[in-house]
Amino acid sequence: MSALAVRGLDKSFGGLRVTSSVDLEVEPGERRLIIGPNGAGKTTLFNLITGELRPDRGAITLFDRDITRIPSRRRAHLGLARTYQIITLFPRETLLGNVTLSLLGLSRLRWNPCVALRRQAGLVARAHEVLARVGLESLAERPLAQTSYGERRRVEIAMALAQRPRILLLDEPFAGLSTEERRDAVADVVRREVADRPVHNQLTVVPLDAPTEAEEIT
Ligand SMILES: Nc1ncnc2c1ncn2[C@@H]1O[C@H](COP(=O)(O)OP(=O)(O)OP(=O)(O)O)[C@@H](O)[C@H]1O
Ligand SMILES: [Mg+2]
Repeated sequence: MSALAVRGLDKSFGGLRVTSSVDLEVEPGERRLIIGPNGAGKTTLFNLITGELRPDRGAITLFDRDITRIPSRRRAHLGLARTYQIITLFPRETLLGNVTLSLLGLSRLRWNPCVALRRQAGLVARAHEVLARVGLESLAERPLAQTSYGERRRVEIAMALAQRPRILLLDEPFAGLSTEERRDAVADVVRREVADRPVHNQLTVVPLDAPTEAEEIT
């Protein structure tokens, strides 16, 4: 079984062919780095895998299940999580607020504001837990705008991990970070998460352009 498989994936924007017959197969628990020059179509490939874009041709499977036509939100429920090349968080919200909102986005509660309050306690507790996991518990109540770029990257990873993903896609997780921040904010956090998973629930990690993070390069 593969964790993620992509077969013959094509995507064009107008006349511009961005991905052309892309094939990729990643095993459960594998860390697979994908590299390529600027504009090669790496982010587009992620957008196709997560369902933010539709391919013109080809198929995508997650743990051997065809997800090519499944909407983006349901792919998240099947264990797919990602971070973005350009950070997409709410600057005026606190760190805790940002992580809780991302969990709420995945929860059925978002359809029902009346029952939300009580059950939200569970989401807030989970948000505290993942912030602690990435070493940001002491900043939980701080507005995101008052944190460093490296801390924001960590919040983003916390948000992705909060979903308990089986596959984690990281779009240029090291971009804009110092060597120390790369290690503290990203590499160590991901490594710890990988190490702490039980064998039956391994985390597959696919980073873009983050050379120390992977065992195999595509
Ligand atoms: N939504 C879109 N509409 C039109 N063109 C797009 C769209 N998204 C990406 N492109 C184009 O597709 C090409 C590949 O872009 P993409 O962002 O996937 O590359 P990348 O490999 O992630 O590059 P980078 O290293 O700069 O992040 C670029 O020429 C880009 O301008
Ligand atoms: Mg990109």
